[in-house]
Amino acid sequence: MAAVALVQGASRGLGIEFCRYLLLNKAPAAVIATCRNPDGAEHLAALAAQHPGRMTVLKLDVNREEDIKSVAESVKSDFGKVDLLMNCSAMLHPSGKGETSLRDVSAQGIISTLTTNTVGPLVMVKYFAPLLQMGTGAFGQQPQEKAKQHSGIIVNMTARVGSIGDNALGGWYSYRMSKAALNMATRNLSIELGRGRGKIVCVSLHPGTVDTDLSRPYHRNVPKDKLFSTENSVQYLMNVIESLNIGKTGKAYAWDGTEIPW
Ligand SMILES: NC(=O)c1ccc[n+]([C@@H]2O[C@H](COP(=O)([O-])OP(=O)(O)OC[C@H]3O[C@@H](n4cnc5c(N)ncnc54)[C@H](OP(=O)(O)O)[C@@H]3O)[C@@H](O)[C@H]2O)c1
Repeated sequence: MAAVALVQGASRGLGIEFCRYLLLNKAPAAVIATCRNPDGAEHLAALAAQHPGRMTVLKLDVNREEDIKSVAESVKSDFGKVDLLMNCSAMLHPSGKGETSLRDVSAQGIISTLTTNTVGPLVMVKYFAPLLQMGTGAFGQQPQEKAKQHSGIIVNMTARVGSIGDNALGGWYSYRMSKAALNMATRNLSIELGRGRGKIVCVSLHPGTVDTDLSRPYHRNVPKDKLFSTENSVQYLMNVIESLNIGKTGKAYAWDGTEIPW
């Protein structure tokens, strides 16, 4: 059966670019793209129209558990499995800018950021893990030994600023905390889902600084050659994904495949 990839948070930025990459480079893979407002996601609709029969767009707000449950049920009945789950959605902060110091911190800002960036991706895995356990290991590297083969891959999109060990600058309380906690979820998931039959590789991936809306307020501080296009970043990240196996689970990797300290 053809590979099935689900991209959560696919309306724009890296999410839509992952869809485009998979449609162009992983035929005949089926691509399921989820976003919270399909009617307003005209670029996604245009992409689906260019690839008839290959792409399914479904409505899913990652903050609504009932959306996640109902999309998982529909994917189960239409596809029966998922080989790759990409948790892409995130926000920097509801204001669009990270906190520069403690006085910018608000309880509501932190709670919203954690809800979208950390809780949502984990609840996604709760409902999609059974489908990934039914996967056929269509992404990544499979060793010869059957006992070490995986059925699926989960990618939680993280950020280098979520690394506690790498944090020398401070600031961005909500975003940093949300990604550090997401990394803990990745590690926990890798333990629970790395056992028995239907092993799932779980990683956090950092895409570099990419030319998208999320980091736009800060682009003028980034040297030109350090600001990736979505096309470049996705190409790098897909190379990392295709090199994954169960021996690499439970870690955070940057776009160039190097491990990021927790
Ligand atoms: N861009 C960078 O420089 C950079 C650097 C490091 C890490 N990352 C990470 O890479 C990932 C992708 O970021 P990006 O740069 O592509 O960001 P982006 O262009 O701002 O896109 C964010 C996406 O998240 C979706 N989203 C937000 N809240 C949602 C919700 N409640 N339910 C469903 N979807 C929701 C947005 O959907 P709507 O269109 O509906 O708002 C949009 O599709 C994120 O996890 C981000 O933290 C990005």
